[in-house]
Amino acid sequence: MASLSIRDVYKTYPNGVPVLKGVNIDIEDGQFLILVGGSGCGKSTLLNMIAGLETVTKGEIAIDGKVVNNLSPKDRDIAMVFQSYALYPSMTVRENISFGLNIRKVPKNEQTEIVGRVSKLLQIEHLLDRKPGQLSGGQRQRVAMGRALARDPVMFLFDEPLSNLDAKLRIEMRSEIKLLHQRVGTTIVYVTHDQIEAMTLGDRIAVMKDGIVQQFGAPQEIYDSPSNLFVAGFIGAPPMNFIEGKLVEQGSGIGIELDTGIARSVLNLPFEANKVRGHIGQEVVLGLRPERITDARSSHDGHGHELQRHAVKVDVIEPTGPDTLVFAQVNGKRIVSRVHPGANPQPLNNMDLLFDVSKAVLFDPKTEERVA
Ligand SMILES: Nc1ncnc2c1ncn2[C@@H]1O[C@H](COP(=O)(O)OP(=O)(O)OP(=O)(O)O)[C@@H](O)[C@H]1O
Ligand SMILES: [Mg+2]
Repeated sequence: MASLSIRDVYKTYPNGVPVLKGVNIDIEDGQFLILVGGSGCGKSTLLNMIAGLETVTKGEIAIDGKVVNNLSPKDRDIAMVFQSYALYPSMTVRENISFGLNIRKVPKNEQTEIVGRVSKLLQIEHLLDRKPGQLSGGQRQRVAMGRALARDPVMFLFDEPLSNLDAKLRIEMRSEIKLLHQRVGTTIVYVTHDQIEAMTLGDRIAVMKDGIVQQFGAPQEIYDSPSNLFVAGFIGAPPMNFIEGKLVEQGSGIGIELDTGIARSVLNLPFEANKVRGHIGQEVVLGLRPERITDARSSHDGHGHELQRHAVKVDVIEPTGPDTLVFAQVNGKRIVSRVHPGANPQPLNNMDLLFDVSKAVLFDPKTEERVA
């Protein structure tokens, strides 16, 4: 078990391209850290640096308080599961799982005990004599995990372990990984580009873009209080609505002008006028999650907050089962709301939507940073 500290870490590959530009992340012993971001943002690079497979250009990586920059991978006591699984095709599942134990000359009877325990945990006992070629993708994934688990390391590193699996298996394995973490309690660093995996698995999430951590925090904190437009748009499905409009004074408070094509109005906002004074009269971007725009029947019931009614013209509807997504134009852009299926929305009809702005966030369109 170990804490992890990444302090002002930079990475430039020998070709001169800077890939990580000052990354700072701290997690405690036993936490589940997610590195999430689009392709090429530097997730695998950072993971490989934690493992010791890539050098650190500048900065420090410390495991359990000890700087490991110059420690070789085998001396870090870390187990990694690669995206490709990297199983040995000519070895059986049993041999694959015990490979690392053999290398470290763990006595045979101990190996048998470990392989038994790990394969039971992962429910692959019946596959021990097969070779990787005779396994499904999900089974191979478990074997790769088994090989890591056999090690009982201070930290697990996972690089997109579920990306090769079909949607159903991915969801199954996702909860198995979470269960596993609850059972063994070992620190995990997990790379994914899937924001749902990030939200569901992580104790802490680092949202990355272009080699920079855009925001680091607990999942709900990132969901509720994204620090900029990138994070706001990246985490959440369907994504947060961005309503572009003019911030205006409205009585003693403030609001944003709305034009739904069938009506013009002002949506009152709960921000303190003092805090956003510099933006009054200016274009801003209002961030509002789809579940905060509902209908009168919605089970969310306004979360105990005052709801504001605005008429829209329905573009498209997408029933998901529990909710129906209703798309409509607001200020010339598409927004999405979640309504009760019983509201029976119809394309091209007008509909009243109820806006709950208690969790709304406000961005400056120029800097893309959150201002309230
Ligand atoms: N060995 C290398 N030499 C030079 N550039 C590299 C090397 N490995 C990766 N890069 C570059 O560094 C950047 C980050 O790569 P990295 O593999 O860390 O991204 P990633 O976030 O894991 O992306 P993906 O989601 O596609 O796996 C990319 O632009 C990539 O082309
Ligand atoms: Mg990668």
